[in-house]
Order: sequence, then structure tokens, then C-alpha cells
Amino acid sequence: MFLKSYLLPLLFSFSSNARTLSPPVEADLEWHAPRSSWINSLDSVIEGNGVHGLIFNSSHLPQGTPYGTYNWCNMPHVRAKEYPVADEKYELTYVEVIHRHHKRTPYASNTFPQEAYPWYCSDEGLFFYGKPLGNVIKSSAATYWSVYTTSTNPFAPSGFNGTCQFPQITREGSEDSWQHGKDLYGVYHDLLRFLPDSMDGRVTYRVTNNVITSQVAGMLVEGMYSPDSDVPLLIQPSSIDSLEPGYACAPASSLYSTYGVGSNRSNWTAHLDRSAPLFSALDGVSSVPSDDEGFHRSFDHYFDNLSARQCHAKPLPCKIGDLSDCVTQEQANAVYRLGQYEYSYIYRDAPESLQAAVGSFGVWIAELAQNIRDHMNGKSPVIYRHNIAHDGSVSRLLSILQVDVMVWPGMGSELVFELYRTKASGDERYVRILWGGQVLRSSNPSLGLVDMLPVDVLLAYIDGLVGPGASTVAAFCGAD
Ligand SMILES: *[C@@H]1O[C@H](CO)[C@@H](O)[C@H](O)[C@H]1NC(C)=O
Ligand SMILES: *[C@@H]1O[C@H](CO)[C@@H](O)[C@H](O)[C@H]1NC(C)=O
Ligand SMILES: *[C@@H]1O[C@H](CO)[C@@H](O)[C@H](O)[C@H]1NC(C)=O
Ligand SMILES: *[C@@H]1O[C@H](CO)[C@@H](O)[C@H](O)[C@H]1NC(C)=O
Ligand SMILES: *[C@@H]1O[C@H](CO)[C@@H](O)[C@H](O)[C@H]1NC(C)=O
Repeated sequence: MFLKSYLLPLLFSFSSNARTLSPPVEADLEWHAPRSSWINSLDSVIEGNGVHGLIFNSSHLPQGTPYGTYNWCNMPHVRAKEYPVADEKYELTYVEVIHRHHKRTPYASNTFPQEAYPWYCSDEGLFFYGKPLGNVIKSSAATYWSVYTTSTNPFAPSGFNGTCQFPQITREGSEDSWQHGKDLYGVYHDLLRFLPDSMDGRVTYRVTNNVITSQVAGMLVEGMYSPDSDVPLLIQPSSIDSLEPGYACAPASSLYSTYGVGSNRSNWTAHLDRSAPLFSALDGVSSVPSDDEGFHRSFDHYFDNLSARQCHAKPLPCKIGDLSDCVTQEQANAVYRLGQYEYSYIYRDAPESLQAAVGSFGVWIAELAQNIRDHMNGKSPVIYRHNIAHDGSVSRLLSILQVDVMVWPGMGSELVFELYRTKASGDERYVRILWGGQVLRSSNPSLGLVDMLPVDVLLAYIDGLVGPGASTVAAFCGAD
């Protein structure tokens, strides 16, 4: 059985005190249901109103709204003003950050058959070029993409006309990325004096094979270090990318499809069935055919379609040729509530969610555990690792950590793993996990409020789920 109680073998004990063997550390590997809230209450989502204070229409919070409020367009992250500084007896020794890219245009697949207005991105260059490294005789010019169409090309682009690639990070999304880097630097450099003054081998950045994470990285690194020289972005081959995640794990996909998107399990289909009038209104405006599976198996497409517009202060869509038939804000809000409900169900409420997430994101978690070990054993000089990823990465990580209230991770959603030691306890290590800049609470009793948790407990939890060297994941995915 995949999820069973697991004893941390002695060989994983990290006490530097070799005179006595530490007792094995145990972690509860079971799935525990998330807390009940409007997000996982079908009646609240279907019959409710508004968006419960969540923001979907600007990167900036309305006046008076506290930082930390869920903002789909620009989620809260670690910032000096709100940062919970640890007790002074703790010394920070290692940080690993993972977050979703910043705001973007929609994916082409989430655009309507016809759009009533174009979308321009001429204020944002997508730099894409190769350049020799090392002893350079011939260098490269800084060249970027400039999207255009011609009247000779008889094919109309699907979705929006204009000058964007769908998807791409927008100008505002770039600016949010820069600020995100600046804010992290404000905490881990300026406030805590933890990061080095200039970039060196102790600081690394990683992206996925989806170019939008690289579009974020340039701005984010500039916001942190404003480096004078070129900066490597770590990336794995696309077929095995653990961050995106892109490695093959068909059993995880099948498991998701037995209870989630595409399944006929009543727990899943109930919210779709009860949304029939909403779907019909949205289809009426968008001209999406009612048998278009992509738009009707879940609210993902309508959610992306409407929220990307609203995050960029664009109007809600109207029917082509009938400006009196438009998506209303109340309909958009219903889509936003349903999106939250779907993410909570897929990644937390369904008991199978833990195993599906461990299968599809377990390799990254195993890498995280290895990074922590390499740091503690002095095998790696890296003290700060930064991963730029997707909602599919962040939601699976929240699934594995069994966050107590699940949401759809919006643009820039961030998790930070902080490793500490105390001067008094020698080599005992503790971990704190920040979600949206504040301490994460897990429904799993071994993790609980993850605030100075002995690191051996987190490692026992990870090892128990993914196995040494992610061997349990490989076996589950059929890759061993
Ligand atoms: C965003 O929506 C909120 C209500 O959820 C509203 O109060 C606010 O005025 C809107 N802001 C913009 C920029 O449209
Ligand atoms: C919304 O969906 C429509 C229909 O496919 C598409 O044309 C449009 O580009 C989408 N817009 C966004 C913002 O996704
Ligand atoms: C998009 O471009 C096509 C021609 O390529 C044109 O027929 C159509 O009207 C344009 N749509 C908008 C919304 O500009
Ligand atoms: C759900 O789908 C499975 C397999 O496709 C099928 O065997 C089962 O009868 C379906 N159940 C319902 C309630 O439609
Ligand atoms: C699924 O449905 C069953 C009964 O229909 C219910 O007991 C269970 O709580 C539901 N689970 C979820 C995650 O909604």
C-alpha cells in the first residue's frame, strides 16, 4: 500500500551527536480532510454570492484591504512589513522558495471562438536568443519577439487578435515579478542579512520548460540582485521536469481522472450539474459550443478566460454583435467561487488527492528533501534556491503538505521552506513553511502549524510518501 505508516530508518538520522543513536522519527502519512469553509461547501458555492473578500480584478489591493488577502492577480508573498521574524534563538541557514509565475494573458485554449476586442502586448518584449558562453569571440544581440499578423495570411488567430503570444507574461505581470524579487530580497537580505550582497554560487534559480516562467525570472532576478552579468536558470529536460511537473506518471493522471476532471463520480459532477444555467449563459455570450468538453468538464477555461481579462482591467466579454448580452460580474464571481471549489476538491477534499499529488509531484518533494540534507551535511554551498513554477506545481505541493484550507493558487502564489538551527541545540534543525508570507497550517497532525517543526519530522513525512530517492514515486508511476 502506498500510504502507510513509515518509520524513519536510523540511517536517515541527522544528529551529529554520534555517541547515541537518535530514536526513529515517525510521521503520520495518512490523508486528513481539510477544514470546512465556504470553499468546500457546494451549497455556499452554488447558492452564495460575491467572492468572500477575494480579489480578482487588479494586482493592487483596494484601499484598506490588508496585505495577505487572497488576490488571484498577485497573491501575497513574503514581505518585510508583514514578515514573521523568528525568535532570536533561531538562526536561518537555508531557504527554498517556490512560486507560481505572475499574471499573463490567457492560454489560447481558454480563449473564446471569437473575441470582441484585441489584446496588445507591444509594451513587453519576450527575449529569446542563444548566446555562446565562456571564451566568447562572437556574441549575441539582445533580440526579442514582436508578434504580428498580415492581411495576406488568410487564417485568423484563435481567440484574441493583437500582439500577444497566448500565453505570455504581460507588462504588469513583469512588474509584479520584479516587485516579488525586491520583496524577497528585502526580507532575506536587508532584514535578515541572510543572502549575500551579490550573486554567487550560494543562490540559484530554477524554471520550468514553459517559457512564461523564464519571462518571470528575468524580472525577478533583476528585482533581487540587478546583476551585471548573465544569470543561469536551472532547468531539467522537458520530459522529466519535476518542477512543471513534466515527468510521465500515467497512474497519477488516471487517478485524478477517476475522481476529478472528466470523471462521472457524483462528488465531482454535482457542481457541474447544478451549474447548468450558468454554463448556458456563459456559452450564450462566448459562442463556445455546449458540447465543447474543454469548457464544460470543469470551470478552468471560463475561470482563466474571465480572470485574465479582469486582472488586466479589461471588460467582461459581451456577445459578438449583441453588446447587451454580456457576462455579468455576478456570473464571473460564481465562476471564481466554483474554481476555488474545484481546486479544493481535486487537491484536498478527495481522499485520493494525496496519492495523486505524491505521484505527480513527488519527485520535486524528494529533491527538496535532498537539498535540505545536502545543506545540513555540508555537501552543498547553496543557501537559497528559487523555483518559478505553475499552479499545477503549487497546488500539488499544497496537496502533499495537506494545507488546511485549499484555494486555487493565483498568480505569484508562494511557498517558502526555511531551515533553522539554534545555537543552544548544536545541530538540531527546524523547519518553518510560509504560505502567502505567513506560517502554513496543515491538516496532518504530524505537520500542524509548520512553525519550527523538527526537520526530521518533515523528512520522515517526505521519505514516507516518496521513498528514498523518490523510489516509491518511480514504482507508483511505473518508471522503476
Ligand atoms: C474590484 O472588485 C471589488 C469588489 O470585489 C470592487 O470593490 C473594486 O472596486 C474593484 N476594483 C476594480 C479596479 O475594478
Ligand atoms: C475566452 O474564451 C474565448 C472563447 O474561446 C476566447 O476567444 C478568448 O480569447 C478567451 N479569453 C481569455 C481571456 O481567455
Ligand atoms: C480579428 O482579425 C480578423 C482578421 O484577421 C478580423 O476579421 C476580426 O474582425 C478581428 N477581430 C477583432 C475583435 O478585432
Ligand atoms: C462512470 O463511468 C464508468 C466507466 O466509464 C462506468 O462504468 C460507470 O457506469 C459510470 N457511472 C455512472 C454513474 O455513470
Ligand atoms: C463524496 O460523496 C460521498 C457520498 O456521496 C460523501 O460521503 C463524501 O464525503 C464525498 N466526498 C467528498 C470529498 O466530497
